[in-house]
Amino acid sequence: MRIINYCKIAMLFAATILLGSCNKKVVFGKVSLDRIIKELTLEEKADLLVGTHAFWGDTIDPAIQEVKAFLPGCAGTTTPIARLGIPGIQLPDGPAGLRINPTREGDDKTYYCTAYPVATMLASTWNKALIEEVGTAIGDEVKQYGADVLLAPALNIHRHPLLGRTFEYFSEDPVVSGKVTAALVNGIQSNGVGATLKHFAFNNQETNRSNNDAKMSDRTAREIYLKGFEIAVKESNPWAIMTSYNRINGVHTAESYPLLEGILRGEWKYDGTVMTDWGGGKDAVAMVKAGNDLLMPGNARQRQAIIDAVNNGTLDIADVDRNVKRVLQLVEKSPKFYGYQPTNTPDMKAHAEIARQSAAEGMVLLKNEDNVLPLANNIRNIALYGISSYKFLAVGTGSGSVNYEYVVNMEDGLSAAGYKIDPAIAAPYRKHVETIKPRNANNFMQLENVVMPESLLSQPFKLRADAIANDIAIITIGRSCGESSDREYDGNYTLTDVEKKMINDVCVAFHTKGKKVVVVLNIGAPIETSNWKEKPDAILLAGLPGQVGGYAIGDILKGTITPSGKLVDTYVNNFNDIPTGKNFPVNHQELNAESRRNRNNPNREPIKNFDYTDYAEGLDVGYRYFDKYPELVSYPFGYGLSYTTFEYSNPTIKTEADLFKLTVTVKNTGKYAGKEAVQVYVTAPESKMEKPVKELKAFAKTKELKPGEEEVLEFTFKQYDLASYNESMAAWVTEAGYYQVSFAASAQDIRQTASFNIAQEIAYPTTATLQ
Ligand code: BGC
Repeated sequence: MRIINYCKIAMLFAATILLGSCNKKVVFGKVSLDRIIKELTLEEKADLLVGTHAFWGDTIDPAIQEVKAFLPGCAGTTTPIARLGIPGIQLPDGPAGLRINPTREGDDKTYYCTAYPVATMLASTWNKALIEEVGTAIGDEVKQYGADVLLAPALNIHRHPLLGRTFEYFSEDPVVSGKVTAALVNGIQSNGVGATLKHFAFNNQETNRSNNDAKMSDRTAREIYLKGFEIAVKESNPWAIMTSYNRINGVHTAESYPLLEGILRGEWKYDGTVMTDWGGGKDAVAMVKAGNDLLMPGNARQRQAIIDAVNNGTLDIADVDRNVKRVLQLVEKSPKFYGYQPTNTPDMKAHAEIARQSAAEGMVLLKNEDNVLPLANNIRNIALYGISSYKFLAVGTGSGSVNYEYVVNMEDGLSAAGYKIDPAIAAPYRKHVETIKPRNANNFMQLENVVMPESLLSQPFKLRADAIANDIAIITIGRSCGESSDREYDGNYTLTDVEKKMINDVCVAFHTKGKKVVVVLNIGAPIETSNWKEKPDAILLAGLPGQVGGYAIGDILKGTITPSGKLVDTYVNNFNDIPTGKNFPVNHQELNAESRRNRNNPNREPIKNFDYTDYAEGLDVGYRYFDKYPELVSYPFGYGLSYTTFEYSNPTIKTEADLFKLTVTVKNTGKYAGKEAVQVYVTAPESKMEKPVKELKAFAKTKELKPGEEEVLEFTFKQYDLASYNESMAAWVTEAGYYQVSFAASAQDIRQTASFNIAQEIAYPTTATLQ
């Protein structure tokens, strides 16, 4: 294998130097970065600020070719400067596990990676320790396969359920997003490889994502869309941050000095490296000035623009040097720099086990009438309907996908759990999925491949026979999505007529025979539930649970594991009640067509929700809005059933300087062992500023409690975490007064309360504005 060992190169250069070259001992890693920067030519500095991928032809510098060829399928690399011993490093995707090519030309070994549960599912575990373990396992694959910095986690807010990348992101809530991100980053980086927070920031739609202008107030920006990044930066110090494609109040985030040098570095004290999204931003020089250190994947025009701007005096060399230094700091931390030799042998079995545990913990039991789950001991024969029962969706599409070796379907998972799948029902499904010939596993996940065709619907007489022959029916509904496009309302958010008919007819047939029906949702983003949820007896939100999701479903249905996942998004009754829907490209096909029609018209009016999106709802995102109208909600934020029951008691609050320490006792009062995720919401005192009814400030999960067992859960937050952003004062302000704390099982299920007083208002001034 062609491996450049940069330590050897560095030593070679050192030797050359010792032998009398005029460049005395200027070798990367051996002298200060300032010394290296002095040594670099302007062209070399521009090389370092621009990645190699779309940039260099095949005939150029062999060192660059080596770097590009080193890890097939890697999204991008930095540019090596062999003369000074500076290696190029590998930056692969992504959020559900490392994404590289599984095979290599002329090499019969394979390089599959583990597909873990997607981000939304990891968040639904509410289990930071488990999420950190997942991060550690992902980071191990990054390292062992020879990569340096993973392009994940992604933590944009679920502003609207039609957002195409929902599954790649965590939640509608910034505190969940920030804390879960920090846990993942800490896990990934414990391997000595880097993580990248993306997409910084306000990337909440895929429609016209490269140019859409997200218009919002500073308060909305800071409290909803930046808060998660702030928490993650402060609690995990990621090596890198990736700016987003979109604009914020007219300026591309990649070109925003107030965002990057003002808020991120000035206020939050971030000292890592910032890179663009792939092809993000428009003006290379503006990006350099704004503190966007690395332009990815890089192209020759950007490189030349940087050189020209320095030469004609429009770009200060000090800005170039500042960014070069931050790129070199990233390279200096990388395994590549230390000469790490990839083993290419991560422990895939151990990682599959972590994927299985986290998948099971992230599944959310939405309905369980008459305790139909866990399946009773006498249940053996299962009538299994739905395409994704036989061709399971592990992850979503696009850069958030993974090239995994295998997927455990529902069919396999249930069989492994000891159930018998009715072969006559399975046969046509199996035949159908075999006719789908995707180019690769990711292509299979396109929506059209998972929605039921009418031809697979069983006739009522056949269903009646199925209901006699089997003990229970399980139906899966599959939904996939991914980057570049937002989701459709019809048939993606809603169930298709065929799917509704399938649920209805199966329920009629099985209920007539006194048998139960379970619906399993193999989906990456919220769907419509209120029109059909009354029909089945149980509903399990299985999400996109990674490659061994089928086993995890078996574990939950059988009761080997008690469900403990809880929703990280609000599921509403009526789509039109979602306040962000007024300003979201719900009709994105029409908007795309309109913009295409007007492509050559330089004077066309900006198209609403395409050229710009007005975040007019302000803080009214998810439960922050629906707490005011609980009757509009189908399943609330934080909701999830268990096979057992929990009692909360004895809430306490202690203050230590600016820190609040809270506890609550949780007791398992039911018949099954299980875990409970507890949410701590705070309601602020009446004030001049309008505030949400309550906001999540902390959460924790118990260990597995046996029946009768209890645990005291601990939570902390600081006075600063209670602050709202006051625009007229340009400061975060924690107002004086009584704050009410709710210890809750969901946003609509408060179990215990307590309160504390803040005697005096505290202001935390800021320096930057996005207006
Ligand atoms: C995505 C990023 C990804 C990059 C590299 C872009 O299209 O927005 O999330 O990391 O591609 O694959």
